[in-house]
Order: sequence, then C-alpha cells, then structure tokens
Amino acid sequence: YQFEGYTQVLEERNLQSLVKYMKSEECKNVVVMLGAGVSTSAGIPDFRSPETGLYANLARLKLPYPEAVFEINFFRNNPRPFYTLARELMPGKFRPTLTHSFVRLLAAHNLLSKCFTQNIDTLERRAGVPPELIIEAHGSFASQHCIKCKSSYDGDVLRRHILDGKVAICKQKKCGGLVKPDIVFFGEQLPHEFHTSLPRLRDADLLIVMGTSLTVHPFASLASMVSDICPRVLINLDLVGNFGSRSDDVVLLGKTDDVVRDLARELGWEEELDALWKET
Ligand code: APR
Repeated sequence: YQFEGYTQVLEERNLQSLVKYMKSEECKNVVVMLGAGVSTSAGIPDFRSPETGLYANLARLKLPYPEAVFEINFFRNNPRPFYTLARELMPGKFRPTLTHSFVRLLAAHNLLSKCFTQNIDTLERRAGVPPELIIEAHGSFASQHCIKCKSSYDGDVLRRHILDGKVAICKQKKCGGLVKPDIVFFGEQLPHEFHTSLPRLRDADLLIVMGTSLTVHPFASLASMVSDICPRVLINLDLVGNFGSRSDDVVLLGKTDDVVRDLARELGWEEELDALWKET
C-alpha cells in the first residue's frame, strides 16, 4: 500500500486491520505509552479533564496555578499543597484497571517491548507487568529522598507523615531539607532508564498510546520517535498529539477499558484478560 511517500502497513485504519496486524509475524515489538486516563476508572483523577481533573480541583490548595503543585521551586518554599495531594494520590488503596491488565497480557504474549508510563500510581507493577518492561518516566512513590542532601528516607516513615498531614524533614545532621517521593517534578530530570530506553521506540513495530493528553514533554515526543512503518494506535477519549497525520495512525476514541476489551475480544484474548484482571 503506497501512501504519498509512506509505506502503509495496515489495510485500513481500523480495529479489524489492527488485530490482523497484531496476529501477524510482523508485529513482535509493541511499545505502550500510558497517561492518567488509564487510571481514572481505578478512582484516580487525571490532571486535565475539565470537571474531574486534578488541576480543576486544586483551587482549595490556593496555588498560583495548578502545575505549581509539581514544581520543585514552589515545593521548596511551600511543601504543603503537594503533601496534601500526595495523601489522595498515594498508592496502596487503588486497584489496577482492565487497561493495566491488557498491558500485562501483551507481555504474556511476548509482544511487549516496553511500557512507558507518566503515572506515579505504580498500577502497572500492581497489575503484574514485568518490572523490567516498565519505565516510570515521571518517577513514582516507590522511593523518596531529601531534596537538599539527596540522602534516602524511609518509605514507611514518609507514608505515616503524609497520612498524618505532616511534612517529612531530612534526618541527616544539620541538613533540615524537605523529603519528597521520587516523583519527577517540573524542572527535574527524567530517570536515566527513560533515556536509555529510547532505542525501543526505533525498533518498535507497533505503538499503543492510551489515556494521555500528550501535553508534557519530553514524554509526549516519544510518539513521534517510531519509524514510518510502525503503526501508531491512540486509545483515548479525545484526539491528541499529531495522531491522524500518519498513514498508519489508528484512532480508537472511547474509554480505554472499553476499547481494550473490544481489542482483546477480536484477538481472542478476552477470557485471558478477565482472568488476569481478576487476579489484581
Ligand atoms: N479513557 C480514555 N481516555 C481517558 C479516560 C478514560 N477512561 N479518562 C481520561 N482520559 C483522557 C483525557 O481525555 C485526556 O486526554 O486521558 C487524558 C489525560 O490527560 P492528562 O489529564 O493531561 O494526563 P496526562 O497526559 O497523563 O498528564 C501528563 O502532566 O501534570 C503532569 O506529570 C503530570 O504525568 C502527568 C503529565
């Protein structure tokens, strides 16, 4: 299929031809990109949805602007808004969604090359996605450090501080720095493994992007790093990024849990998907 300069891999830009491709020998290295939209059905609000998004509901924290809650300089002057938010976002009380189990299913079928996630809820790990295949590009609550002397801090002690609404202070002598979970704040470097995993995008023969507005870089730029002969699938409530501009872009608009169920059914994996999700 020649498409003004592009080689078209998929017969049609729809679910049926995507499924046919996924079952073919050509499809071996799937890269997945996740955003907050895949965890909303677990009860964790996303950031930018108009009514329910976190940024629309942070007014009570009296922030100069919503993103300040994740800015390192703002945090250094006033850690309270983040600690208040952390209490709501902290993992432990949320269950993975069907979409997280679908990512695990891709790995179970030896198709998952890498899962890049922007989410800090660790639900990919909780769903049983092999840890070596997960890149938590914006960090997570899995570890924490002093932002001044960088020494590590005990996770249970931090959890208790967060639950008690208290700010944790570094225990090193004469430091007195603030303790922050290893979440990547605006203005901070992304983890090393994010950068070392970029070649996975070049080797990908399918990209699946789910539940993200693709507004935050450098994460969003991953979607443009795949080769011209790598079909890209967007599973999202609305069209985002430059999806639709490539001859093999497949846009499946809707709730991620509904679309992955349709995809699993067409692939003959629906029972497996339900069994994996039941385990979570
Ligand atoms: N099914 C499909 N799409 C959904 C669903 C759902 N159930 N719920 C929400 N969405 C979509 C929204 O329409 C939106 O396009 O998911 C996207 C979520 O976008 P954001 O709220 O911007 O979240 P995300 O893209 O992950 O934000 C990126 O911004 O604040 C920073 O570091 C933070 O990692 C975060 C980054």
